[in-house]
Amino acid sequence: MVKILVTGGSGMVGAALVEKLVKDGHEVNMLDIHDVKIEGTNYIQGTILSPMDIDKAMDGCEYVVHLAATVGVDRSLKAPLECLDVNVLGTRNMLEASVKNDIKRFVFSSSSEIYGEPRELPILETADYSPKSEYGASKVIGEEYIKAYSKKYNLDYTILRFFNVYGEQRNEFVVPLFITAALKNETLKLFGDGQQTRAFCYVDDIVQGICKGIFEEKAKNEIFNIGNPGGEVSMEQLAQKIVEISGSQSKIEHVEFGDKIRGKWREVFKRVPEIKKAQEKLGYEPKWTIEDGLKAVIDYYKENLDKYVEPDMQGI
Ligand SMILES: NC(=O)c1ccc[n+]([C@@H]2O[C@H](COP(=O)([O-])OP(=O)(O)OC[C@H]3O[C@@H](n4cnc5c(N)ncnc54)[C@H](O)[C@@H]3O)[C@@H](O)[C@H]2O)c1
Repeated sequence: MVKILVTGGSGMVGAALVEKLVKDGHEVNMLDIHDVKIEGTNYIQGTILSPMDIDKAMDGCEYVVHLAATVGVDRSLKAPLECLDVNVLGTRNMLEASVKNDIKRFVFSSSSEIYGEPRELPILETADYSPKSEYGASKVIGEEYIKAYSKKYNLDYTILRFFNVYGEQRNEFVVPLFITAALKNETLKLFGDGQQTRAFCYVDDIVQGICKGIFEEKAKNEIFNIGNPGGEVSMEQLAQKIVEISGSQSKIEHVEFGDKIRGKWREVFKRVPEIKKAQEKLGYEPKWTIEDGLKAVIDYYKENLDKYVEPDMQGI
């Protein structure tokens, strides 16, 4: 059993990961600006922008899973400097402290946003970087800092590029937006023709990938796509599935891309990961079908609908 620091442990991925690590008998410190108590962990309320908070949180840890970030394209548009600070400077702070504390492995949550619109499908880890957003760019910079620190200080790392995770998350992303609209029988809005594709991956499958990234010898100093190609759907199919599974009366409507609300310039039209590398080297295997995953999340939202407020995303 080992002692692990999880940054962003209060978030969607972090909370699911922390619960699994505690269940498996590990000692977990979590550092997050938001206080979400998870039984069995040492919670440190603080920011990755403060070296002092990081030092406190990393005390005695052998592994770091760095998930804390300003997450998502929309948020990076709304708060570009926060995105730069947290995702770039914050990651550098985490690397500095990891070197100082002789961390055995630094596991980093990168994103499929680094690829932009892919030239080939499915997307391999060797595909070019071509981010369309500051969020994607900030993840590219994070990855490059990690590789540079590894060369300079022999810090071992695993970079995991997550593809479209869904679970119990903030109401700013397409899955919770569609689910909350469906549960209120409101119209689900599709941008453009709705034929954009994503391969959605249930959060527990991402947690499986992270655990492999921490503990598998073959994950050392490697980059992996972590996602679920089996979860590939168009936005239109996603909306239809959510309406059907939730038993909603909602209509599905097509709307134009806008300059402010969702610019076409930032849209990625096709995205599906190639995960062979993770399957072959790590034994990673996503287990959740999109129908089962959506059902689990819909059931959760049915119980917790009152907690979810309309996102403050005007002007994007
Ligand atoms: N959700 C996805 O589809 C997806 C896809 C690709 C990559 N990722 C990456 O996975 C990681 C986890 O994402 P998530 O979906 O759980 O997001 P989330 O927003 O639910 O969690 C992020 C957590 O980071 C914390 N945080 C933000 N700024 C911080 C700071 N300065 N100091 C300490 N904590 C801070 C937040 O409070 C939050 O709890 C992120 O790095 C994200 O970029 C997510």
